[in-house]
Amino acid sequence: MRDSLAVVSEAKNGTVSIYEEIVDALNAINGSHPGFRAVHAKGTVCVGTFTATPEAGSLSRAAHFQGEPVKTTVRFSNASGNPNTSDANPIAGRGMAVKFHLPDGEATDIASVPLPVFMVRDAEDFLAFTKARTPDPETGQPDQEKVMAFLADHPETANALQLGLPKLAPTSSYATSGYNALHAFCLVDADGGKQWGRYEWHPTEGEQYLSDEQREAAGSDYLQEELRERLASGAAGFRLEFRLAADGDSLTDPTEEWKGERQVVALGELTVTDVIEEPTDGPLVFDPINLTDGIEPSDDKILAARSPAYSVSIERRMA
Ligand code: HEM
Repeated sequence: MRDSLAVVSEAKNGTVSIYEEIVDALNAINGSHPGFRAVHAKGTVCVGTFTATPEAGSLSRAAHFQGEPVKTTVRFSNASGNPNTSDANPIAGRGMAVKFHLPDGEATDIASVPLPVFMVRDAEDFLAFTKARTPDPETGQPDQEKVMAFLADHPETANALQLGLPKLAPTSSYATSGYNALHAFCLVDADGGKQWGRYEWHPTEGEQYLSDEQREAAGSDYLQEELRERLASGAAGFRLEFRLAADGDSLTDPTEEWKGERQVVALGELTVTDVIEEPTDGPLVFDPINLTDGIEPSDDKILAARSPAYSVSIERRMA
């Protein structure tokens, strides 16, 4: 497992890195909240078990895909960087981050969101789009002209918003939302055979969105409360699927839809069983390039940008 905090230290050469600029820009939208993540600030940490299918073991030699149940740490979150955000906001992006604890004591992570594709292609566009969305101090609202100008120059962002907004509507539970890891990863089997695809988490109860009336009646912490109540008497289930890349699918552009039918392989079942307090003996970090033998990353610029941006957030929240 790589030491992601080292990335920040290496980047420190007296200038402000783009990753620090990104976290500053996220803080300008959400406010700065010491001790909290720069985004996905509000959430609930759980534990569970992941059990892989035989098909997972055929595609990848990764330890957690061999069929023996592995323990997991799972954090469900709201996308906002404001820890006081309401769960009942009409547009309330969510997150599901899963850490698989491997038999050798190491771990590997998948962090995912309900969006079907990501909004931008690289760190520079992430920074520019975040800045365009920053509320004007006088009106408290983003400058629509700046947002529209960005969207006019970036049709991939406009497309991602159009596809993604319905998925950001509030669900009845964190456990009735779907989540996608968006980047392509390569699964490597025991003989070195490779298969590219994208991970998707599907709730076993299906996706369930609130009606307008239910949303208006919902409390600002209903997602956290529902999860605690659900796990006090039962469990939450998700199926991990791997959507196989077809010829011509981009492996590096997370804004690109893989349109049309694709072969989908069920990799396993996650059973989330208990809520726990966030550990205090060190930062709980879900890093999308914290991989393990049997899984390889793509040359996706967003994937490459995440780890150093997360490191800035982690360093600041632990300060
Ligand atoms: C350049 C693009 C991105 C940037 C700059 C960014 C930034 C961040 C930051 C700063 C954090 C807080 C990290 C921490 O303090 O631990 C975070 C958390 C998170 N991000 Fe991203 N992110 C990006 C792309 C994505 C994508 C593509 C996904 C999903 C596929 C994603 C899903 C998540 C999730 C689920 C969390 C919460 C993890 C947790 O519960 O600890 N992010 N992101």
